[in-house]
Amino acid sequence: MPSLEKLIREKKAKVCVVGLGYVGLPLSVEFAKKGFKVTGLDRYKEKVDSVNKGKSYILDVSDEKLRKVVKKGNLKAQVSFSAVEDSDIIFLCVPTPIDEYKVPNLQYVESVSKDVSPFIKKDCEKLIILESTTYPGTTEEVILPILEGCTISPQEKFRAGKDFYLAYSAERVDPGNKIYHTGNVPKVVGGVTKRCTKLAALIYSFIISKVVPVSSCRVAEMTKLLENIFRIVNISMINELAVLCKKMDIDIWEVIKAAETKPYGFMPFYPGPGIGGHCIPVDPFYLSWKAKEFDFTPRFIELAGEINDSMPYYIVKLVDDALNSKRASLKASKILVIGVTYKKDVMDIRESPVLKIMKILLKEEDIRLSYHDPFISELTVEEKIFRSSSLTKNSIKKADCVLIATDHSNVDYNLIKKNAKLIVDTRNVIKDRNIKNVFRL
Ligand SMILES: NC(=O)c1ccc[n+]([C@@H]2O[C@H](COP(=O)([O-])OP(=O)(O)OC[C@H]3O[C@@H](n4cnc5c(N)ncnc54)[C@H](O)[C@@H]3O)[C@@H](O)[C@H]2O)c1
Repeated sequence: MPSLEKLIREKKAKVCVVGLGYVGLPLSVEFAKKGFKVTGLDRYKEKVDSVNKGKSYILDVSDEKLRKVVKKGNLKAQVSFSAVEDSDIIFLCVPTPIDEYKVPNLQYVESVSKDVSPFIKKDCEKLIILESTTYPGTTEEVILPILEGCTISPQEKFRAGKDFYLAYSAERVDPGNKIYHTGNVPKVVGGVTKRCTKLAALIYSFIISKVVPVSSCRVAEMTKLLENIFRIVNISMINELAVLCKKMDIDIWEVIKAAETKPYGFMPFYPGPGIGGHCIPVDPFYLSWKAKEFDFTPRFIELAGEINDSMPYYIVKLVDDALNSKRASLKASKILVIGVTYKKDVMDIRESPVLKIMKILLKEEDIRLSYHDPFISELTVEEKIFRSSSLTKNSIKKADCVLIATDHSNVDYNLIKKNAKLIVDTRNVIKDRNIKNVFRL
């Protein structure tokens, strides 16, 4: 039997990707494009069927790209874990959510680890890599015992670094980013042993321009959290300053533009209705939770979370203030929300603060709420189904207030500017400061 290293070098290693979502599908396509035989596993048959038909459901993976690798026989998808038996490298790309109390939920990671474990055998040389974002210690404290065979005797336990290999490498993809994609964002890799790191770095080197090996899984896990904590703290800081600037009658957008002229030591962050998506509002709380084990409260994270949670309420207050300025109120008003996804030009509404804004608005008596989003045709808030209304002169004119919540590129803001009675702009889309009916964050 050739060694795993030889199989990888000769591109004969069989790849299996568990979880065909935003992370797993692009990863599968990248390996398949490079000539590896890839099997994607997902518990949803619809996703599996869609992949096998070459029909993408992820914005960053085109149908054409997917069809090519499927047609070539390099990528196939299935529901059953039986493919793990014949695979050499298994990537785990499953969700790592938090619950309403911001407590980590590792059930997906644990479940797929248990599904993979029966295929770990003495000297099987399979390499398992976790890509999901999580707290430092997950790979070694949660996955390792499952794969080592915690149910068999200590003498018989399979050894990571000998019988199988285990590593962690977080995905850093920024959905919708036209410049940076899986292939050109460096990948940080940490294994349970040096050999685990070496093999994981080797497989990534086929699809990624730069691989950065680190000394352990925990360092790699913490690196991903540092990156996302950096973002939540800075975005929350600018949101806090935006609220203060409003009180002081200072235009925060002008301040940021001016500060940006400093050639060093400053990096712009922009205010908005709150942070959304599956990563930034979620991941930092994995660390907060783990920190409790060390009698430590990471205060920056808690404070950032608090500010982030308060932003949707603040935006509703802005809408109310805007209506009050016209001697109207939220009660019985018609509000048209523009953009419901968590950020521009993506079709993802997970943790979107706009849903929270809509939920708060719906508490108002007789409010008539509608939305327009070119990426989301339908959505449910408080068990009420909404359909994206078309953006016309009429629909804009009918609204008492147009709330620009997400700044998608393909929205006709001029049409809004010309026809809206009142605009609340949370993204600084309307640049003209002379228009009097615009209330800016
Ligand atoms: N979305 C991003 O931009 C992004 C970026 C970096 C890191 N991450 C991290 O990557 C991980 C995955 O995120 P995602 O956005 O790809 O999630 P996702 O929900 O889009 O995809 C996860 C997939 O896993 C599948 N799945 C869940 N349980 C399964 C099981 N038991 N067996 C087989 N399939 C199963 C789901 O059906 C889904 O298709 C998370 O930890 C996330 O924090 C996400």
